[in-house]
Amino acid sequence: MRKTLTILLALSAAASLMIGCQKKGGEFIGIAMPETHVMRWVKDGNSLQAEAEKLGYRAEVQFGDANQLIQNQQIQSFLTQDAKLLVIGSVNDGVGSVVTEAARDNVHIIAYDRIIPNSADYDYFITFNNFKVGVLQAESIVKGANLNAATADAPKYITLFAGSPTDGNAFFFFDGAMSVLNPFIDKGVLKVVGPYPRTSKDTANFQRIATENWQAPIAKTRMENLLNADARDVTLDAVLAPNDTLGRAIIEALKADEKYRTKLPIVTGQDAEFASAKSIKDGEQYSTVFKDTAKLAEATMILADQVLKGESINIPGAVLATGDLAEIGNTGAKYVNAYLLDPILVTKDNILVPVDANFYETYEAAELRQ
Ligand code: BGC
Repeated sequence: MRKTLTILLALSAAASLMIGCQKKGGEFIGIAMPETHVMRWVKDGNSLQAEAEKLGYRAEVQFGDANQLIQNQQIQSFLTQDAKLLVIGSVNDGVGSVVTEAARDNVHIIAYDRIIPNSADYDYFITFNNFKVGVLQAESIVKGANLNAATADAPKYITLFAGSPTDGNAFFFFDGAMSVLNPFIDKGVLKVVGPYPRTSKDTANFQRIATENWQAPIAKTRMENLLNADARDVTLDAVLAPNDTLGRAIIEALKADEKYRTKLPIVTGQDAEFASAKSIKDGEQYSTVFKDTAKLAEATMILADQVLKGESINIPGAVLATGDLAEIGNTGAKYVNAYLLDPILVTKDNILVPVDANFYETYEAAELRQ
């Protein structure tokens, strides 16, 4: 009797220990983010980890320092830790080899925000409507620089910048923007200063306006060079800047030029970074595009959970890309299911939108509310 009791007690202790273990950690999810020099990724990484843990998974996040070799090592280390699913915001297509390796081990892969190019080894991509991001940037130029009032005799002047040619998103941002700007250029009321790729398919000119790895110093130097050359004899009305980090670097270059001391051109952006929200509030940067990365992280982990459980996919707040938008899911090797969230244009008029969405730290929000 006594012996049975001891055994029973031991068994129940073992059972509760096992439940304890399960609570502490279910399956392991590896989260690989590309870089930290663009602020958003730090937020993305933290939100993703928190959302994974909320659903009972163990999760770890690593940042690749805009270097695919480093990121590949981080992903390999996730694999040795027996990761069941990887969430990857890749640096460039060099990620393909580890993705193939992971797929061979039956590890699920979700391409996060950026497509994993030239790979047929995964099925899911979750991001924003990146074409619309570009449309919104250009629409803010139409309004801010009053393009509808421009004439061939009194045209407006614009300079074009694009993101990293290693990042599939950069092409969609640019093509979205040009879908709005080209009609004004065709009418002769908007003149492009510097290279003019009509679309990202004009590879030679696209390369000239692209910014390798989204590095701010590259954009700043290019703006400085333009100001001393092609843009010397005109006054720019607008600069298409693909994200906030680059937009602020471009503004720095512009501010150093006598001509723009009192009035800056309309400069766009993306990410609703705090520094840019402040700049918009102060009347320097004109617009940004708010992509609620907390929502993206939440949606990603809902997707991850459904994939791991073999359930059918149903993500509140995200739509499966179809029609023309299905191109967003074209890796070059196959079409993956691309789930899209909606971006929002932010100017001085609605600067409180990201603030009210709790996108900022408390002290940052307080500053923006002043
Ligand atoms: C993201 C942008 C970001 C850029 C640079 C893109 O893939 O979609 O939000 O600004 O990378 O990090």
